Amino acid sequence: MAKIQRTQVGIIGAGPAGLVLSQLLYLQGIESIVLENRSRHYVEERVRAGVLEQGTVDLLTDMGVGERMKREGLVHFGIDLRFKGQGHRIDFHELTGGKGITIYAQAEVVKDLNNARLAAGGQLLFEVDNVSIRAIDTAKPQIRYRKDDADCEVHCDFIAGCDGFHGICRPSIPSGMLTEYERVYPFGWLGILAQVPPSCDELIYAYHDHGFALLSMRTPEISRLYLQCQPDEDISGWSDDKIWHELHTRLAASSGWTLTEGLVLQKGVTGMRSFVVEPMQYGRLYLAGDSAHIVPPTGAKGLNLAVADGQILARGLEEYYSRGNRQMLDHYSEICLRRVWKVQRFSWWMTSMLHRFPDENPFDRRRQLAELDYVTSSQAAARTLAENYVGLPLD
Ligand code: APR
Ligand code: PHB
Repeated sequence: MAKIQRTQVGIIGAGPAGLVLSQLLYLQGIESIVLENRSRHYVEERVRAGVLEQGTVDLLTDMGVGERMKREGLVHFGIDLRFKGQGHRIDFHELTGGKGITIYAQAEVVKDLNNARLAAGGQLLFEVDNVSIRAIDTAKPQIRYRKDDADCEVHCDFIAGCDGFHGICRPSIPSGMLTEYERVYPFGWLGILAQVPPSCDELIYAYHDHGFALLSMRTPEISRLYLQCQPDEDISGWSDDKIWHELHTRLAASSGWTLTEGLVLQKGVTGMRSFVVEPMQYGRLYLAGDSAHIVPPTGAKGLNLAVADGQILARGLEEYYSRGNRQMLDHYSEICLRRVWKVQRFSWWMTSMLHRFPDENPFDRRRQLAELDYVTSSQAAARTLAENYVGLPLD
């Protein structure tokens, strides 16, 4: 016999989308159970995104999980766009009326949310196996899973599919109900985490003959750097020396700026794609975050989109439980997708402007350089970049 648990909202996945949703529901007096198939250590240590929009920072602060972020996060008010060996600052503060971004690793956001959920007695279960969902098109959806060799069932009113791109929720929706939109890019990013203070106070996005490069950071002691590479690049062909050499080449600036090297703590290659599924809901299942959409990392939007979905879903559920009004829940997908597509556009645009494409011709390259020249010389163009980078309004 399976152990049966009852809750209002069953949440699958303890990434930013699932945890933000669970904490917001808790603050509104709505019960949830979060089921995560990885260990707590794994989700708190994996190297993921690290740039928080102003809206994400404000939300985490309002939720009472912003204290360490305020202390340890690095607030930036601009980025450097580097091409033809010259840097050009995009001044977010001036262009957006004082907004900025905060550098604070996704793993730290996840730690803060886990701590808050567990301190409040929240039901957050790690290392659950064989998660499946059923009866999502009825008023009594269920989640089944195994934990510590026992079969368990969660009976709930709604299910939130926050289980990332490779999760089980999206594939549980009957075929024919969803439309997928996808673009796979013909390149990837080779990323390193290095034990060295960032060589610049702000992020540097570089367009170079050899391909794109990015200087980012996690803390005042840890740098995060990326190089455009083949989508299936064999990392074993990249010694630490070769990586640093290529970073020096692509990030070089005539101003005399130099890149400081350090111990490489971690390295890996990730492919790049744009992906959206429509609609983001079916019956009583709501998809949030990477389970519904993926953006290429240029522009750092994945984490922020996941948090925004969690916030919108929490609002819909609050409307339902406090006022019996299902209208917002019924329009969840529509509300999210309007913003998702704008963010997709921005991420695609940044990616297209800054990378070398295998099928490009000399016209394309001239056009990319003209685009960079325009963005860094026209206030109107710079403002469109800045307002997207610091984050569009929720709705
Ligand atoms: N059962 C339970 N949990 C699952 C399952 C499953 N079958 N499949 C996946 N998960 C868990 C993953 O282990 C992960 O912890 O769901 C969680 C999904 O979290 P994220 O991948 O972080 O997705 P999301 O919360 O949408 O946040 C998106 O993550 O990939 C980055 O750049 C992306 O920053 C963005 C953010
Ligand atoms: C990162 O620090 O991991 C990062 C920063 C900016 C991006 C993408 C990734 O555009």
